[in-house]
Amino acid sequence: MRWNIGLAYLAALLGCVSEGFAADTITVRDGETGFTFSEYQAAFVIGQAIKFRVAVPSPAPDKFDLVFQIIAPTAVGWTGLAWGASMVNNPLTIGWASGSTPVISVRRTSVRTQPQIYDGATVQLLKTGTRVNGTHWQVTAKCSGCSSFSTTGSTTKNLNANGSNRLAFAYSKTRPNSASTAAMISVHDVYNYWDHDFSTAGNPDFDQLVKNNS
Ligand code: HEM
Repeated sequence: MRWNIGLAYLAALLGCVSEGFAADTITVRDGETGFTFSEYQAAFVIGQAIKFRVAVPSPAPDKFDLVFQIIAPTAVGWTGLAWGASMVNNPLTIGWASGSTPVISVRRTSVRTQPQIYDGATVQLLKTGTRVNGTHWQVTAKCSGCSSFSTTGSTTKNLNANGSNRLAFAYSKTRPNSASTAAMISVHDVYNYWDHDFSTAGNPDFDQLVKNNS
């Protein structure tokens, strides 16, 4: 008993108890935009990963806007973030590069067929941190409606700005053939889930950073 308490005390001192070990993310400060993000590196083929980054205001209101960043190797035709960790009944923010133009499209579906345009969440692409170059395409966007949304019927899901949230991604090697947000997207080749720690993604100057990067 004494031994257990001693261990717990030591672990608490080291700071590993309250956070737990669940999240799959690391914290990065993006020098370009100035945001502090928590980042998940999603392997989509062996040896290559897409970076999914999230930044939140600190303190965050109940319904908070967030900024997300997707950094994808050129091999990624399209990739999408599912904010409720499911293909169905949640906002899906899907990105791709149309030539030199990065595109973000918000979709939703209640069945596992091509998701359609969804206006219950809105994204604003930020100028800084959004580009296509010889090796990657990248988007940085503010989303209103990605952290709080209805799922089925009258159920609302609120993501936790101070904790870990289950998210999912999907990837396809097939690039949509237009820059229209309504472009046809083909079915994914890979999807997966992870626990994204938002508690390390707080930005006290969130609104100012959005302004600076717009
Ligand atoms: C043309 C577009 C799409 C089609 C036809 C499609 C179709 C499907 C099908 C048939 C499944 C079931 C797979 C299985 O049981 O093995 C599935 C699962 C899944 N899809 Fe899609 N999908 C599409 C787009 C997307 C997008 C844009 C996302 C996310 C951004 C997504 C995320 C997922 C996830 C996470 C699963 C796992 C099951 C779940 O958690 O709901 N899909 N999809």
